[in-house]
Parts: sequence; C-alpha cells; structure tokens
Amino acid sequence: MYQHRESQTMSPAEGRTMIIGSAGFIGWFLADACLQSGRPTYLLVRSGPGFASRSLKSSKIKSLVDRGATILHGCVKDGELMEKLIRENKIEVVISAVGGDCVWDQIHLIKAIKATGGLVKRFLPSEFGHDIDRAEPVEPGLMMYKEKRKVRRLIEESGVPYTYICCNSIAAWPYHDHTHPADLLPPLDRFHIYADGSVKAYFIAGTDIGKFTMRAVEDPRTLNKTLHFQPRTNLLSINDLARIWESQLGRSLPRVTISEDDLLSAAKEMRIPQSIVAALTHDIFITGCQVNYNLDKPTDVEVCSLYPDASFRSIDDCFKEFHAKIDDSKQTSKPPPPSSNSNKNGIILAGSKTEAVFITA
Ligand SMILES: NC(=O)c1ccc[n+]([C@@H]2O[C@H](COP(=O)([O-])OP(=O)(O)OC[C@H]3O[C@@H](n4cnc5c(N)ncnc54)[C@H](OP(=O)(O)O)[C@@H]3O)[C@@H](O)[C@H]2O)c1
Repeated sequence: MYQHRESQTMSPAEGRTMIIGSAGFIGWFLADACLQSGRPTYLLVRSGPGFASRSLKSSKIKSLVDRGATILHGCVKDGELMEKLIRENKIEVVISAVGGDCVWDQIHLIKAIKATGGLVKRFLPSEFGHDIDRAEPVEPGLMMYKEKRKVRRLIEESGVPYTYICCNSIAAWPYHDHTHPADLLPPLDRFHIYADGSVKAYFIAGTDIGKFTMRAVEDPRTLNKTLHFQPRTNLLSINDLARIWESQLGRSLPRVTISEDDLLSAAKEMRIPQSIVAALTHDIFITGCQVNYNLDKPTDVEVCSLYPDASFRSIDDCFKEFHAKIDDSKQTSKPPPPSSNSNKNGIILAGSKTEAVFITA
C-alpha cells in the first residue's frame, strides 16, 4: 500500500510540482497558476523530433521557463524515467494534463508514483472536464471516458493520493465542431444553437481552472475527492451566451438550430477527434450532463463551498476579452499571411478552417 511520508499539508514554498502537458491547452493554465502560487514548478516536456519546430508550443514553454519553471525532459510512458525524475527532484505534486488521446499513457506514471513509496502527496490525473463516472456520452465520447474511468480505478487501487478536477466547460463559445473553443472567437456571422438552447452548463475561465486547481492540491479537504466547479454565476445556457455576445457586438446575429439528430449524426461519423466533440456537445446541451445529478457521494466536494470567498471570472468578462481582440485585429496594420487563420493574438478568426486539436471533458 502507498505510504504517506509526510503530512498532507504543505506550504506553497514547498510542494515541488510537476506539470505534464504544459504546452497543451489546459496544461498551460495549470503551469501558469502553479508559478503564480509560488511553488517550485517543473514541466515535463517531450523532447522528440520536431518539438523545437512546434513554435507555438516552444514559445509557451519558454514563457514559463522565463518565469522560473524548470524543464524536465521525458515521456510519461517511460515509467523508470518518471520514477527517477520524481525522486531526484523531490516532486510532491504531479498534475497531468495529457490530451484525451493519451489518457492511457498515465498508467506508467501511476506505477512510477507508487514506486516512489510515498514521496508524492497528491496526483491529479488528466480530467479537467465532467465527472466521468456519472456522465454517459454517446460514442466516441464514451470511449475516452472509459479510459479515464480505468485510470481512476488504477489510482484508487494503488493507494496514490489523488484529486479529480471536474471543472466543466471552458468559458468560450461551445463550438460542436472545434476542439479548443477558447482559441476561437465567438461567432461573428450566425449562432449554432443546440436544440432550443435552454440547457445550462458551467463556463469556467481557464485562469480560474488553474487557480482553483492549485488551491485544491494543498487542501486536505480535497484529498481522495472529486472537486466539482459549480459556481452559480457561471451557469448559463447557449441562449444566454448568444445574448451576452450580441450585447458586446452591439448587433444581433441569426440563429441556426443544430438538432439532437445533427449532433448524433456528427458523433456517428466516428471522425476522431471531431466526433468526440460532437458526442460531448450532445451530452452537455441535450442530456444536460453538467446539471442532471446531485453531489451526494461522500467523495464529492464543490469549489464554492470549499472557498466561499472565491469569485469566478464572468462570461461577460471573458467575452469582453474576445471582443477586444476583434478591435485589436482591426488595428493591426498588416493582414495575416494567407496560410494563417489566426490574428496577432493567436485567436483564430471565426469561419476559418482550423486543424482539429483535442478537446474537452
Ligand atoms: N473542460 C474543457 O472544456 C476541456 C477542454 C480541453 C481539454 N480538456 C481535458 O483536459 C485534458 C488535457 O487536454 P488538452 O486538450 O489540454 O490537451 P492538449 O492540448 O492535447 O495537450 C496535451 C499535452 O500533453 C502532452 N503529452 C501528451 N502525451 C504525453 C506523454 N506521453 N508524455 C509527456 N507529455 C505528453 C503534450 O505534449 P506535446 O506538446 O509533446 O504534444 C501536450 O503538451 C484532457 O483530459 C481533456 O479531456 C477539457
């Protein structure tokens, strides 16, 4: 059985934290918040061929290193190396944000953490979405959830201390056909509204996902618990989002209904990852998977109950930021190069075709 070497409480100055996937979408917010919390921050970076040429990823890593993070080279699939890195760097917290397609790779990491015999006081596997033991999306979303469930069971069996972060949706327009919606402006031509647009979901800013995850890793109340993000202020329907964005734009946009059948057909196409996004969109906006259950398990904790002083960035605020980016791009003197579909802020302009990247709960 996994032995705890020291008390679960640690001060931010201790708590050497390793983040896996900090060049990724969610991982960057976690690494950013980890540095802000003052913890010694270690970034596990895959150094395989081509990394240097992935300029956006390497510039994200560089910005974190410039702020004091330390790079550790390696891949989570190399269990021996993981054990060595954890021991040598006295890592106390491991946070994984590997993409949905690499969830199973974490089994090597769990075994490595266990082998260190109690050095790691908290492990956060790559979750950062829905409660995957409760939600039951259609395929191929379910396939990813089944892998995440197997990872949970392995963690629990191994006795590694954990917290599962269920932060629900990222605060951005919830496109059903794009994986990282926070990289996209909300629509500028028309809204796609799922069914009657009334089902609600929680929309959380990436910075808040990072901030509250870092509070949770040092909180004994979240030990071996599932932490749900359910701030009432951020519970909105897609109709609400459309109204908020229209008020920022100062004009109204036409609405096109995307029916339940449309989403199910897109899921059935089994194009990966697009069909996973369609399946999860169906689960959120048709089934209501973020709002159709009660927090009635002894392992459930909710972020606003734990931190009543906490305030969350509002969707109005997040949309204001998107709107400012439209204004900025109008002021940009040079148009983006023809091959590019993003403006100078790295925000992808709505309507442009983008390479699908992995997303969501
Ligand atoms: N709630 C939401 O709205 C939402 C949105 C997005 C994602 N999510 C969830 O958040 C988690 C992270 O997803 P994401 O979309 O942020 O992922 P992502 O953008 O695809 O990034 C994944 C990162 O993990 C790294 N990685 C993957 N396999 C690795 C390995 N074997 N060893 C070391 N590093 C490895 C990648 O490294 P390289 O840079 O070398 O490729 C990359 O930096 C997933 O569980 C996903 O389901 C939730």
